[in-house]
Amino acid sequence: MAQVFLSRSRKPANLIWYQAWLRWQSTSPLAQPVHDVSPADRLEPRAPVVVTPEIPGPRSKELASRLGQYQNTDAVHFFVDYERSQGNYVVDVDGNCLLDIFTQIASLPLGYNHPRLVKAMQKPENLATVINRPALGSYPPVDYVERLQNSLLSVAPPGLHQVQTMGCGSCSVENGMKAINMAYQRRIRGPRPYSDEELQSCIVNRSPGSPKLSFLSFANGFHGRTMGSLALTHAKWYVKLDFPAPDWPIAEFPQLRYPLEEFTQENQQEEQRCLEQVRDRIEQWAKRGEPVSGMCIEPIQGDGGDNHASPAFFQGLQDICDETGLYMMFDEVQTGGGVSGKYWAHEHFNLRHAPHVVAFSKRMLSGGFYFADELRPTEGYRIFNTWTGDPSRLVLLEQVIKEVKEEGLMANATLVGRYMLDGLRMLQCEFPGLVRNARGLGTLCAVDIRDANTRADLLRKMRNRGVNLGMCGVSGIRLRPSLLFKRRHVDIFLDRLRTTLAELK
Ligand SMILES: Cc1ncc(COP(=O)(O)O)c(C=O)c1O
Repeated sequence: MAQVFLSRSRKPANLIWYQAWLRWQSTSPLAQPVHDVSPADRLEPRAPVVVTPEIPGPRSKELASRLGQYQNTDAVHFFVDYERSQGNYVVDVDGNCLLDIFTQIASLPLGYNHPRLVKAMQKPENLATVINRPALGSYPPVDYVERLQNSLLSVAPPGLHQVQTMGCGSCSVENGMKAINMAYQRRIRGPRPYSDEELQSCIVNRSPGSPKLSFLSFANGFHGRTMGSLALTHAKWYVKLDFPAPDWPIAEFPQLRYPLEEFTQENQQEEQRCLEQVRDRIEQWAKRGEPVSGMCIEPIQGDGGDNHASPAFFQGLQDICDETGLYMMFDEVQTGGGVSGKYWAHEHFNLRHAPHVVAFSKRMLSGGFYFADELRPTEGYRIFNTWTGDPSRLVLLEQVIKEVKEEGLMANATLVGRYMLDGLRMLQCEFPGLVRNARGLGTLCAVDIRDANTRADLLRKMRNRGVNLGMCGVSGIRLRPSLLFKRRHVDIFLDRLRTTLAELK
């Protein structure tokens, strides 16, 4: 087979295709799930079924128009029948059954209605946690410590032992940033108590109580929509427009060439350039009298375009933080939960020590952040709100973690992700100019499409073929399947993608 391809053409594209094919062949038997037919697999439909000429269908449209009386519905894709949805398949209110490779914006670890989660919710003793949502910071339930230990703490990033739950991704980043600023000021203040001036000036947003600190973030980063996390977000205009934002330093995130292994030298230079810019920005803001207390970065930029950087880049950032006294926060809201092949994507970077904060949400079912001991607030009510999370989510998370471990779902993510990436690389060779930059870590895969309009067409056509996808960046397609995604699902996806690309060529 090798000779056939190589003798036909010596073009690099064919070679890449052939290499991808070889890898595909070698990973495909391994990509079988550890238990091929788990109880969850048995319940799942075998393939997408589309029953309306287009999606959204008539019932979805009618519901959108009714909802439209009370709120803007431009972002509504279709209405879902959550009771009928199962595993990797989402069922809409018109009866269309779609293979879901976006999973509620990357937030369903085990797809829909996983039997293990359904069973947990049917237990009478767990019902009380759902019915009586506590003000967790003040009135935690009797089993809360055990719940935390069995869920979030059992998968804590290496080196981090403190955790605070929160409601959503944005407030996880927001409060991680608060914890960093408090620690930074504690370091400056030393053992002296707060002055009266500090205590009074903070109430009216003035210095010294509200210090002139800044926080470094990266171009194309997405960290949320509350005012603090939004200040770190540099995504689409509709996320940012009309909201006041502080003038904090923004450094470029490396724009690498893919496949990474082929462009190591150029990519290294690009990363070096960005690291130098980070240093410059930190110096500049210190000179302005607004020292940088910390930086926030995604291990793979999600919404901003699924942009990757190498372990060396992240190690370089950590070195800069160590040299300049900055605290480092990884925003793992989108990358956490096992889909990268490790529980936390930053674990792929071989950092010299743990980051100071790791923010999470989405597939972890609860928002929150892990943090270094040094960041622990010294008084109550400093990191606080009414709910500060929801213990009923931890009941479910405990079951998710058990399933991940027992079914080998992180190994599955590695193998299925590689299989999917190789399939995408083959399509890239088959449709040059239309598809480019196939990239991925675990099942966090993406490709760029020719332009934004073609991408919009592609997403619509794929949905009408029964495959629900997400987008990222200017023209990227973002794949965010559940941890139950298997080789057979990849085959369905690639087959329909190939047909669609052929139409768009
Ligand atoms: C990396 C990252 N951080 C933060 C957020 C914000 O999370 P949420 O939408 O739950 O507030 C998102 C949301 O997509 C995200 O992808």
